[in-house]
Amino acid sequence: MTDLTLARDEPTPDVAADGTWLACIECGAVHAPFDAPIYRCPDCSGLLEARYAEYPTFETFAEEGRGVWRYAASLPFESGVSLPEGDTPLHAVPRLEDEIGTRTLRIKHEGMNPTGSFKDRGMTVGVRVAAELGVGRLACASTGNTSAALAAYGGRGGMQTLVLLPAGKVAAGKVAQASLHGARILEVDGNFDACLDIVAELADRGEAYLLNSLNPFRLEGQKTIGFEILERYQADYGRYPDRIVLPVGNAGNTAALYKAFRELVASGALDAEDVPKLTGVQAAGAAPMVEAIEEGAADIERWESVETRATAIRIGNPVNARKALPGIRKTGGTAVAVADDEITDAQRALASEGVGVEPASAASVAGLRKLREAGVVESDEDVVCLTTGHLLKDPDAAAAAGTEPEPVPNDTDAVLDHLRGE
Ligand code: F0G
Repeated sequence: MTDLTLARDEPTPDVAADGTWLACIECGAVHAPFDAPIYRCPDCSGLLEARYAEYPTFETFAEEGRGVWRYAASLPFESGVSLPEGDTPLHAVPRLEDEIGTRTLRIKHEGMNPTGSFKDRGMTVGVRVAAELGVGRLACASTGNTSAALAAYGGRGGMQTLVLLPAGKVAAGKVAQASLHGARILEVDGNFDACLDIVAELADRGEAYLLNSLNPFRLEGQKTIGFEILERYQADYGRYPDRIVLPVGNAGNTAALYKAFRELVASGALDAEDVPKLTGVQAAGAAPMVEAIEEGAADIERWESVETRATAIRIGNPVNARKALPGIRKTGGTAVAVADDEITDAQRALASEGVGVEPASAASVAGLRKLREAGVVESDEDVVCLTTGHLLKDPDAAAAAGTEPEPVPNDTDAVLDHLRGE
């Protein structure tokens, strides 16, 4: 298995820029980070990871300010185009905690970011790197949320944005965002994986700068989810959570959280045994990561045909699998698949406690419920579920999961009669 341990005193290679460089997770080759865009190792095509001369401790995070850039000590730059992002709530959900039966259950609601998903955290860093490289056009393939974030951050940074979407499979709110924030939108007759194949080729041909999670700097921004969870848990309970449950599509977040924890372990700020168990959840109709975990495989097998109501995670070829599989395994986590109806039930349960999320996000809670029922998650565990996108992203799914509006006449007495069931 790929060894992703970060060395504390790794010598800084000549290719480094200001203590930052890229390393291939497969062959270990090191590459200059900002000379020209690279997304995979030119030697072996392996995934790349950002490396630093120094890894952060909690003390290196700024006391002032909020959000992603407060964690600049763990990022390649001090600031970037910011709306601002991060610093999302960690909701208590007492009824759900009681029903599922864990020691504590908190919901890290990433839907509260400026464009309504966690993608903003990666985009603020990715767009900063794009500015450093001097590229003109930013591009991504997307199930929707990445396209919304790219359009907003790229637009604010004064850059052109291009997004490739699987035709007919992106929730209405996300297309509306990408459109109004000024992206050029191409609807591809194929699924997300096909869109990513095309946009990666456009990037390789120098036509655009790729800001999917294949871009290692996107994941640097997303690491801050992990830092925020650990800091908040420590402040509220004097300990760290045992487990973090999250939806998995391209497995970027899984890889990013694992990187956050490895950095803290490398700096000596976190004991390896205190790293939360990363637990991934996929929709049953798009579950190659679950399959790889169950089979003990070193990589995923691409699923050509995928389907789920949780369109954000309708992905058959998770590009970050080689980073995320070790993250799940080495933290003692697992992966589980859930049915669409289980996702909708969880979406309703969260909504009844005031936490409005899109279907993919609710997969985390559906997965936790299933693993708790199976006894894989124990009753004495402190658990955080990540909810990745806001309810309003997918208004059609929300309306379908909610109650029907009741038509009434334009008359108070008639309204009262209706309410009394007469
Ligand atoms: N949840 C939501 C709401 C998402 O939009 C995504 C990914 C995921 C979970 C999965 O995260 O890829 O890090 O495992 N959406 C991408 C997009 C693919 O294009 O917006 P992951």
